[in-house]
Amino acid sequence: MKFFIDTANVDAIRKAHERGMVDGVTTNPSLVAKEGRDFRKIVDEIASFVEGPISLEVISEDAEGMIKEARDLNSWIDNAAIKIPMTWDGMKAVKQLSDEGIKTNVTLVFSPNQAILAAKAGATFVSPFIGRLDDVGQIGMEIIEAIVQIYANYGFDTEVLVASIRHPIHVYEAALIGADIATIPPSVLEKMVNHPLTDAGIKRFLEDWEKVKKLKT
Ligand code: G3P
Repeated sequence: MKFFIDTANVDAIRKAHERGMVDGVTTNPSLVAKEGRDFRKIVDEIASFVEGPISLEVISEDAEGMIKEARDLNSWIDNAAIKIPMTWDGMKAVKQLSDEGIKTNVTLVFSPNQAILAAKAGATFVSPFIGRLDDVGQIGMEIIEAIVQIYANYGFDTEVLVASIRHPIHVYEAALIGADIATIPPSVLEKMVNHPLTDAGIKRFLEDWEKVKKLKT
């Protein structure tokens, strides 16, 4: 399972990278806006140490505009994946970009049928937003299960990138289903290491080792 980091915060990405947990990065306009910094500068900084795909999102709504923006974003760095929204114009753009060898990540996916369209258009990644489905009372993880199954049925190459992850259980469930990638906010990654029995175990081992040390002297 690959871990992408879902943020545009360079310090947070660096921290996760130093821990060996960054196979890629996903950004979106809201995450970039949060940083209050120049987009290009942020992207260059991330690309200076992240080797995996870095998702950069277009804001055009028509296919022609998306393609133009995608080509430009793709020229910024060697490892861009262009995020394209799930619309018919988006699908036109994905088809064209995939023909040109540009990596794409179809975003704002909320149903298995949308994921089928993304795969047929030739998307590199598909991003179903599970937390936002949970928010409206639909179990988001159910569409991950369906999409993984459908892609396996037909041997689609598009990788399932579970997005809008809100807590560690989302990561666990995505892994159980066999999703290719989870894009994880830094706060959720931070929580994944925690277990009270681990803390208690370390404490007890250290206390017992103090006893061993006393025996030596
Ligand atoms: O990458 C975008 C996605 O993860 C958004 O998450 O929490 O805004 O639904 P959220």
